[in-house]
Amino acid sequence: MTTTPLLLLHTGFGSRLDHHLESFLKTVLQQGRRRLEQGESALGVTWSVVGLLEESGFFNAGRGAIPQEDGVVRRDIGTMDGNTLGYLGIPGLTTISCPSRILPPLFGKTQHILLAGDAASRWLVEEGLSDIPGPPPFGEKSLKTWQEQDDRGGHGTVGAVARDRNGHLAATTSTGGAGRMRAGRIGDSSIPGAGTYADDRLGAVSMTGLGEVILQNVAGFRFLWAVSKAPDRSRAAEAIREILADIAEGPASRTDGRIGGILISARHGPFVFHHPGVLLAGAWRDGEKDVALKDGWNGGEDPCLPFL
Ligand code: GLY
Repeated sequence: MTTTPLLLLHTGFGSRLDHHLESFLKTVLQQGRRRLEQGESALGVTWSVVGLLEESGFFNAGRGAIPQEDGVVRRDIGTMDGNTLGYLGIPGLTTISCPSRILPPLFGKTQHILLAGDAASRWLVEEGLSDIPGPPPFGEKSLKTWQEQDDRGGHGTVGAVARDRNGHLAATTSTGGAGRMRAGRIGDSSIPGAGTYADDRLGAVSMTGLGEVILQNVAGFRFLWAVSKAPDRSRAAEAIREILADIAEGPASRTDGRIGGILISARHGPFVFHHPGVLLAGAWRDGEKDVALKDGWNGGEDPCLPFL
């Protein structure tokens, strides 16, 4: 088993790497790096990395999450421990601004792996974990924000995948959803195998992009499985490209919307991949002095970035 610590994060489509984001994301990666070096579990590190991204308010997750049609912000979170295959996914949370905060007290405390938004949101209030007293009234600002979104969004979901010193893998994904959502819409992020998946024997993946397309293709698991079956790294990259082409936007495809992801393969290491567009991702690997950041492929280049 490979036990080289490794950390990847993404902040979804749409964010260009400017000085401000560069310095913020470097700090986030360096904090994650320190935790991995100190021997923290991959699972805990993905929670803290996603927590910092949620707290920033820069992305469509946590404090920056966008409202649905009724003006209510519903946040989805999914997390998976590749060691135990333990999973917790909660879509549609309304009573917590940064859902990753509830993972340490709740993960592993119930035999269920998926909890639905309304009841789970009430449960957080009962447990004293809520920081939002109730959905705000639907105001002009919410309506304007909703109207200004495009309906093929999915911008700014955040996620992290990590491998710790014991070789265990984990993935966590958090989102405010996609643009112009009907109330109650659920995306891919909280659903195992779609937006989030980890298995020490295969790898760990966190997806971003249009949740409907990711769900239709069970994309996270599909990429992970294909990469794990490839005999070497270059064939793994080829497999990713083939799946991206198969799911590609446009009339030739049965599904329509761009997607991307970050992935650590147990056999072949880290990958960042996506359809054309600006996808911001970062990484750190044990032994590297610096972290790597890139705002991705925007046409013409290889859609599968070697990254490190
Ligand atoms: N990928 C995030 C969403 O569509 O909900």
